[in-house]
Amino acid sequence: MTTEGTTLSVIKADVGGFVGHSSMHEALLEEAKECLGDAEQRGLLIDFHVTRCGDDLELIMSHRRGVANTEIHGLAWSTFEECTAVAEGLNLYSSGQDLIRAPSPGGLIRGAGPGVAEMELVERKGETVIVLMADKTSAGAWNLPLYKMFADPFNTAGLVIAPGMHEGFWFEVHDVKEHKKIVFETPEDIYDLLLFIGAPGRYLIKAVYCKVGKEIAAVSSTERLSLIAGRNVGKDDPVCIVRCQEQFPAVGEVLEPFSWPYLVQGFMRGSHWGPLMPVAVRESNPTRFDGPPRAVALGFQLSNGRLIGPRDMFDDPSFDEARHMCNTVADYLRRHGPFEPHRLPLGEMEYTTLPLVMEGLKGRWEDL
Ligand code: F6R
Ligand code: MG
Ligand code: MG
Repeated sequence: MTTEGTTLSVIKADVGGFVGHSSMHEALLEEAKECLGDAEQRGLLIDFHVTRCGDDLELIMSHRRGVANTEIHGLAWSTFEECTAVAEGLNLYSSGQDLIRAPSPGGLIRGAGPGVAEMELVERKGETVIVLMADKTSAGAWNLPLYKMFADPFNTAGLVIAPGMHEGFWFEVHDVKEHKKIVFETPEDIYDLLLFIGAPGRYLIKAVYCKVGKEIAAVSSTERLSLIAGRNVGKDDPVCIVRCQEQFPAVGEVLEPFSWPYLVQGFMRGSHWGPLMPVAVRESNPTRFDGPPRAVALGFQLSNGRLIGPRDMFDDPSFDEARHMCNTVADYLRRHGPFEPHRLPLGEMEYTTLPLVMEGLKGRWEDL
């Protein structure tokens, strides 16, 4: 346990949808607030904010226990269990969906199903952070915006003109198939970096660090549900914490990548490409063709560990064009129906219907 730093832990899970996978019932949010409120009373948390992105329950917590702390992970897990019980009581859809296996004997939630992004920091004067959350997409969906925020001068003016950023950043990239990690330096290594993170299903940006001061700048959840469960079981719907201002990208530089709706995997049945739509929390209800995939961004000022906020950062007309473009792109993609490239390649679909169909057609295939 550390006492000096503030730790931000964002832990999320889908524990039941309302209606279908489109959104969340208020009762789950209330239950989670009660659980975390108790923990705050007990002194385990300094502060918390409970929210949702689509059908995903998001626990944003501040404390002094450091990252990967068993008490904090245990609190998140028991909160998800309590909320699952509420979901069961209302017969909500797919209750307990992401609670795949119990936390490790050590009590950590990693590998159990929920997504985890945590960072410990020494609060600056005016510590500004943004928590990004997505629904109907996979871990790895933050690769493109993180690259733009921290390495693309066409996105982030500060890389060129802000002295604290000019040196560049370190990118910690995880290979989630081989369980290996590597650190790339930018701008020196950007071509090598892009070769890997351009394949976000396998190579995921776990964290970004400032070269100046060697401080943590961003951290994302990289849990792949399909790899945990050994089969496809819903989407990861990842989260990410980004520090802003001064030696970090300005708030507007962190949000700028979302002004253009890039394509992600996770539309309908986790088996289609769709554009990522930046929305206010109240509009994070993926409904059309169970989408399009959504991203929300909540901004906070940290004050002695207290979460001052949130401000709902995409609740702004300057993202109207991105939302409009999303709908146009969704229309365009939808016209492909069951054809690639709207539908994912066979090996990447959440649904593994092919072997069943193949079995049924066994006797009808003939040699050419
Ligand atoms: C996509 C998603 C939904 C579901 C779809 C079918 O990530 O969550 O599109 O895949 O509604 O849901 P099930 O399989 O639960 O009937
Ligand atoms: Mg769901
Ligand atoms: Mg979800």
